[in-house]
Amino acid sequence: MPILPIVTYNDPVLKRKADPVSFDNKELQKLIQDMFDTMYNSGGVGLAAPQIGKSIRLFVMDADAMTEELDEEQDLGPMVFINPVILSKEGEKSRVEEGCLSIPELRDDVSRPDRVTIRYFDQTFQEQTRVFDGWVSRVIQHEYDHLEGVLFIDYLSAFRRTFHKAALKRIETGQIETSYPVVPKN
Ligand code: NI
Repeated sequence: MPILPIVTYNDPVLKRKADPVSFDNKELQKLIQDMFDTMYNSGGVGLAAPQIGKSIRLFVMDADAMTEELDEEQDLGPMVFINPVILSKEGEKSRVEEGCLSIPELRDDVSRPDRVTIRYFDQTFQEQTRVFDGWVSRVIQHEYDHLEGVLFIDYLSAFRRTFHKAALKRIETGQIETSYPVVPKN
């Protein structure tokens, strides 16, 4: 079960709008499995394909542990989102601290709507349309953003970005230590 190295800020693949997934084959199933392994190894709850250097519209999520902790009434084990489309975002906006495996050691508050309706293909290529609330909705919006070339830091104010400038520079130049493998900077 290979653990894939994670691409970090500011690799161009993280800024690209990802391409649709156009295949349903063994290779895709293997990639999905590797993404889960990589996500679990790094302690993340979600991982998008661009984060392992593949610019395709695919992300995985396993929010089970976290929803138990938050006492939310959603049973959300491993889930795969292929070619997802966000149909609507609704509800109150809330500000919650986020982090990202591609932006190690940096966390900040991001404001997002509380509810998302998303259409996608699951791991067996069945089309699904589901509504997610609360914290899980936030994870989905964060991962979906990766497919659009958007990072959570893109939502921060100029002031907050300046605040994080040194930390971002360290990531850019590879001067960070992570508990999981990352793609080396040259
Ligand atoms: Ni992320």
